Amino acid sequence: MDKLVIRGGERLIGDAEVSGSKNSSLPIFAASLLTEGENRLHNVPKLRDILTIGKVLKNLGVKIREEDGVYCIDATDVTNEEAPYDLVKTMRASILVLGPLVARMRKARVSLPGGCAIGARPINLHLLGLEAMGAKIDLRRGYVEAKADRLKGATISFDTVTVTGTENLMMAATLAKGKTILQNAAMEPEVVDLANFLNKMGARIEGAGTGVIQIEGVESLQPTEHTIIPDRIEAGTLMVAAGVTRGNIRLLHCPVHHMEAVIHKLREAGMEIDPEGNEVTVVGNRRIRSVDVKTQPYPGFPTDMQAQFMTLMSLSRGLSIITETIFENRFIHVNELQRMGADIRIQGNTAIIQGVESLSGAQVMATDLRASASLVLAGLAADGITEISRVYHLDRGYEGLDKKLAKLGANIKRVKEGE
Ligand code: EPU
Repeated sequence: MDKLVIRGGERLIGDAEVSGSKNSSLPIFAASLLTEGENRLHNVPKLRDILTIGKVLKNLGVKIREEDGVYCIDATDVTNEEAPYDLVKTMRASILVLGPLVARMRKARVSLPGGCAIGARPINLHLLGLEAMGAKIDLRRGYVEAKADRLKGATISFDTVTVTGTENLMMAATLAKGKTILQNAAMEPEVVDLANFLNKMGARIEGAGTGVIQIEGVESLQPTEHTIIPDRIEAGTLMVAAGVTRGNIRLLHCPVHHMEAVIHKLREAGMEIDPEGNEVTVVGNRRIRSVDVKTQPYPGFPTDMQAQFMTLMSLSRGLSIITETIFENRFIHVNELQRMGADIRIQGNTAIIQGVESLSGAQVMATDLRASASLVLAGLAADGITEISRVYHLDRGYEGLDKKLAKLGANIKRVKEGE
């Protein structure tokens, strides 16, 4: 197992390229199940989660090859309709194959994902939606078993905004008979990217990016070619890296227009952020001001940036309050940040952070992707050496983050645990 060793205190300076979005790539890989023929995907990030969705699809009979960085996905022969526990337990987003399988193969058997480090994360809304479209759903031995004749269009109103729930039902509805209306749908850019991909395949989706998505079902879809949008969470994480090191970095291929809430808060905290097209210069040259943040579905402040923002606030001048409204247990980074000297108190879903002058290096670990990222950021700013173990959490969702940071001047090394 790898760990990261960071000697903190280097100002980050230079250029970094933002990779393709993890949370766009995952549903788009799953959407390839909706058609025969080969889909070609550009700008897919090299991540463990991409390997996992690849394994889930291969297990279904899908052929995947990579050709000069382009992923070619061919689901002509789906030979199996099961996503087994061993794969789903390593990545909850495997549930995204459920909608496409029921729509095209008329049946699916997908392991229930269970809870995870950040919350219970039920999938009841995915299942209710499929039932409303005529699928028969049984929960047996830890699996969702779904069967349907051709799905029928339905009007579905989500009780809670759910990103993968919206994506699963949007995919299923593309091949349903008649019109589906998704109300209180997720408006995330990744939902829009998926809708754009599906429309290129011949789907008839309108309203993606708003709270009401309308899908007119079609008889069949055709394979297509698509470029994944850049990862707004990776970009935000790199911006915070500039903030905590008082650095000056330029982000290339940065999805600025998907990052308004984050950029607004970083500016409020005193950072300079100057976009020019899709390049952004980010300067963190003075002590950070404390600001309050509340996570919300898009276009609000993303829960996936909450942990990283907390590291920034740990080093701010003053008191800030961070409220997590999406997941009930997404403060797992707090104990580790405290061990590095951060002054944070938790009350329910609120963290109260009294900024400190500096953090100090320590041995830390985290059991979640974004929590791990927040510890890397803390390590970049801390005095002395920080060792972060269980780096595989980071590798699930950041493409070569250590390499990108090293290129910007960070003193960061990846070593084998025990070295
Ligand atoms: N929820 C339900 N019932 C459902 C579905 C969701 O109650 O059927 C609740 C969840 O428990 C949660 C809230 O609704 O409290 C929102 O969850 P959502 O379904 O939107 O989360 P998700 O689709 O499982 C995606 C991202 C997450 C990101 C969340 C929120 C992917 C593959 N994952 O998860 O990304 O945090 O949306 O924006 O798109 C990450 O990248 O680190 C990550 C965790």
